Amino acid sequence: MKRNTTWLISMLFGGMIILWACKHELPEPLEPASNTPGLTGRECDPDSVYFGNEILPILKSNCATSGCHDAFTKAEGVQITSYKTIMKYVVPSNANNSSLYRSINKTHERMPPPPMAALTAAQIARIKLWINQGAKNNACDHCDTLDYKFSTAVKPLLDLKCKGCHSPGSLGGGIDLSTYAAAKISALNGKLFGSVNWSSGFKVMPQNSPKMPACEILQIKKWVDDGAPNN
Ligand code: HEC
Repeated sequence: MKRNTTWLISMLFGGMIILWACKHELPEPLEPASNTPGLTGRECDPDSVYFGNEILPILKSNCATSGCHDAFTKAEGVQITSYKTIMKYVVPSNANNSSLYRSINKTHERMPPPPMAALTAAQIARIKLWINQGAKNNACDHCDTLDYKFSTAVKPLLDLKCKGCHSPGSLGGGIDLSTYAAAKISALNGKLFGSVNWSSGFKVMPQNSPKMPACEILQIKKWVDDGAPNN
């Protein structure tokens, strides 16, 4: 029991000794774009837990903190910063045999160590489910059709998928989508929805890209139907 406990501790985190054990190597490159929600082109399946959307943000904010398992400190050699580094402590489809899961799901010598708060029961359950669903390096585009406000739904989409070709510096088709006032013009003349919906008679947008997920097109439609308010 004692040996097992010691092994677990050294596997995952190392208490205060980490402060002397700093290794200053270059951090790993950022996660590939496929882990960036909004760029995947895949809609979220409500029954799946997504690494890029949920698990990585939880682990990064709770474990990859400065002085702990970030790319610079790597307490006890453990780095919780990317899919690759995290998978060293995960047995796909077997949460109970994964040291990552065991370290967060116990009261004695749990991770993150006090005084940091433990993960919530809900977070622990999501991590367990992600592992038991195969611990995939997956991500999806979060999209909620109940949200169709300009500021929270439409503008982020335009910024991400359109603005590069539709701002004063590069006005594709003479169309500006970089500000509310400019986007409103294309919204009210029907071109914004027509182009993303690939309706006949319109140029299909975003140019040279797959059609946007249905949920995002619906957000734009609802906002336009609402009179394209600046909300
Ligand atoms: C890679 C560059 C590029 C991207 C990305 C892009 N557009 Fe365009 N867009 C263009 C160009 C170029 C035109 C003019 C096409 C033409 O006239 O053949 C155009 C035309 C349009 C038009 C006019 C369509 C018409 O039938 O008159 C609208 C509306 C439009 N884009 C909206 C969007 C929206 C919304 C997005 C993002 C979801 C987007 N575009 C992304 C380059 C782009």
